[in-house]
Amino acid sequence: MLSVADAQHLFVGHLLVDSIQQKLRDLLLVFNRSLPIVKPLGWAPPHGGYAPTVAKTTHSAISDQRNGDIVIYINGEYFSRDEARISVFDSGYLVGDGVWEGIRLHNGVFPFLDRHLDRLFHGLETASIDIGMGHDDVATLLQEVVDRNGMIDGVHVRIMVTRGDKKTPSQHPANLISGPNVVVIAEYKQADPEIRDRGITLFTSSVRRPPSDTLDQRLNVHSKLHEVIALIEATDAGADEALMLDTTGAIATCNATNFFIVSSEELWTSTGDFNLPGITRGAVLEVAREAGIPAHERRFFLDDVYAADEAFVTGTFGGLIPAIEVDGRVIGDGSPGPVTAHLRTLYEKLINRVSSDG
Ligand SMILES: Cc1ncc(COP(=O)(O)O)c(C=O)c1O
Repeated sequence: MLSVADAQHLFVGHLLVDSIQQKLRDLLLVFNRSLPIVKPLGWAPPHGGYAPTVAKTTHSAISDQRNGDIVIYINGEYFSRDEARISVFDSGYLVGDGVWEGIRLHNGVFPFLDRHLDRLFHGLETASIDIGMGHDDVATLLQEVVDRNGMIDGVHVRIMVTRGDKKTPSQHPANLISGPNVVVIAEYKQADPEIRDRGITLFTSSVRRPPSDTLDQRLNVHSKLHEVIALIEATDAGADEALMLDTTGAIATCNATNFFIVSSEELWTSTGDFNLPGITRGAVLEVAREAGIPAHERRFFLDDVYAADEAFVTGTFGGLIPAIEVDGRVIGDGSPGPVTAHLRTLYEKLINRVSSDG
């Protein structure tokens, strides 16, 4: 048994040890702060602990050395890849305040350019961003960028327009000191044919897509955080990309592509209220109807997907990519289906047709 006096001694002893430990910790902190910051080879800023290992997605591209030498357009000037910079006070960087468009260059032509420009200008008008250019000026600019880079085919171009630089981190447009910021990046980017031939797997994310009176899901805005979170959920679950539902539980779209199923020889995609009105989505609906395949924009649910004969996703970059598995459920026989292949052929023919029409 301890006497009261012994217990008091022990308690005081503990306090002493605690205070010595604290002193040592303080000293270590001062010492650490005085050390130079050494970045070992391969150092990268912390990324929240998330290190994706799944590299195969609808946006997987064949690596192309020529992309090392491209020039990037920023507000009237051209910069090499290493020198292309935008301010940390840029509205897009600060608060996701900007819109963008992804366009393909095929045999010297931007297929569906008018549709891309309509969507871009619709987004700009909704966000009240004045780009200070008309449709024709933007078309000329895109052409100038690919000409400057000597590009003809197999190219993906991204134009990004943000409200401009702010004088301080803030939402308010009154804090703008310049604007807008217009950036055009053109890269040689061909979709990986292995993905097209093999297909991708999807996982239904818990992140829902809300109606247009919140953040309008039909706009191509800089803030893609909800889609990135959905994608991370999907890759964590071992899938390639995320399928997303709307707030009523109906199928909306995927995190970076639009979603279709083939059910009893009909083509179904979502209503369009909760997804980007994809240019490829529109073109696929067009070619399907021309070919006499009943094509519907409608509400449908996960059980319809699990029971579908085929599923595929669409986007400018990858075209039509089969989805062979959703939430671990095999779709059809688990291989890219015949209707998907047929529609891809029709879509590619349409691309060639609009490209040769100029
Ligand atoms: C969320 C989302 N859905 C769909 C698409 C595909 O649209 P498009 O066919 O116009 O490339 C994209 C492409 O940027 C996208 O970001």
